Amino acid sequence: MTRGHTLRETMDFSPRETGFLALCTGFVAVLVYQRKKIQSLKLKDAKYLIGQHVSIRKFTNEPVSEALLQDIIQLAMQSSNNGNMQTYSIIITRDAHAKQKLALIHDNSAIAQAAVLLTFVADWSRMVRWCQLRDASPGYSNFNAFWTGSNDAMVTAQSVAFAAEAAGLGICYLGSTIWETRRLNEFFELPKHAHVVTSVMIGHPAETPKLRARLPMYGLTHQERYQPLSDSQVLESYKDRETEGWHRYMELYGPVWVQKLAIHKVENLAQVYTCLKYSSQDYRLWSRRQLDSLRKQGFMENEKERGDGRCGICGKWSHCLDPARFEYFFDRRATPMFGRETTPFAGGSGGEFGREVTPGGFGLSTPPRSPR
Ligand SMILES: Cc1cc2nc3c(=O)[nH]c(=O)nc-3n(C[C@H](O)[C@H](O)[C@H](O)COP(=O)(O)O)c2cc1C
Repeated sequence: MTRGHTLRETMDFSPRETGFLALCTGFVAVLVYQRKKIQSLKLKDAKYLIGQHVSIRKFTNEPVSEALLQDIIQLAMQSSNNGNMQTYSIIITRDAHAKQKLALIHDNSAIAQAAVLLTFVADWSRMVRWCQLRDASPGYSNFNAFWTGSNDAMVTAQSVAFAAEAAGLGICYLGSTIWETRRLNEFFELPKHAHVVTSVMIGHPAETPKLRARLPMYGLTHQERYQPLSDSQVLESYKDRETEGWHRYMELYGPVWVQKLAIHKVENLAQVYTCLKYSSQDYRLWSRRQLDSLRKQGFMENEKERGDGRCGICGKWSHCLDPARFEYFFDRRATPMFGRETTPFAGGSGGEFGREVTPGGFGLSTPPRSPR
């Protein structure tokens, strides 16, 4: 288009073409408008859904239909997950007897009232078996695998929670799942490479609790780099929580609670947490139990020599001596993605994080990492 000329003059459109262009422009404008409208509706829905969330601990005895539960879980399965491996499982408990037993293990009577209890499990057993059946050598007996599966399980649990709340149901997570890991793993007869992560009670709400206060956003968010709060900012950010939380427990537990506070000389919410709810002693006990059960479920083989450098296909140390496969690896490793990779043949001086790939050192513990 020459300067000083209008588009119309330069392109010299016929009236029909101009009409067509106008129609297209109008169509695009409508699309953009609709998209914006949908976006704002979606945000409103999200505000309604997430912004109204409260945990429900009292349930009516109305059942949750199997069809609705299946819909909720099916939706949640669309959640993001590591490498699309979906390294989690969900155990559905509806049976009254089982719920009672679980209520005892969790020390939480609400479980018996909830229509359903979902237990989310970090689960590599399916993936490991699949790898074995497909001539691939899995290296997932380690803590990283557990953490990966745990992330998948947690993300999916939250999607279940959203979907259930969107359907008008009430939910409550159970942190006690990670206090009694061994007992729960045994209760559910989990195989190796599977470990409980969290549980969610679901049912029709029989209470309408007040929305609970949250910390102000400035206390939780940081721009670009972590910016520690000053002491006065810390105190300020917990101010509302301190009053809300303090009164909530008073209302919830009544005179017994007041007595407990007096016996333990507990004077504020922070002390409630450190002394009555989540003591250091309990946290250390639960940590020991978790490490034990992770070991038992086969998630603690983290030592360098155990997994490093084994071939991701045959699982042996010397796999790459097979010339056919050597060539195959060589092709795939021609351009290392991250410059540095661990090799099995390197001596002991390389430190934890591997060393440069050398033509002689091709025993790969994993195939090249491609974008997920
Ligand atoms: C991982 C996790 C574990 C939780 N564990 C328990 C629990 O064992 N018992 C319980 O009554 N609530 C539990 N909750 C619910 C929290 O207490 C609740 O989300 C928090 O107090 C905020 O209240 P709200 O959900 O009503 O806004 C848990 C929540 C999460 C996310």
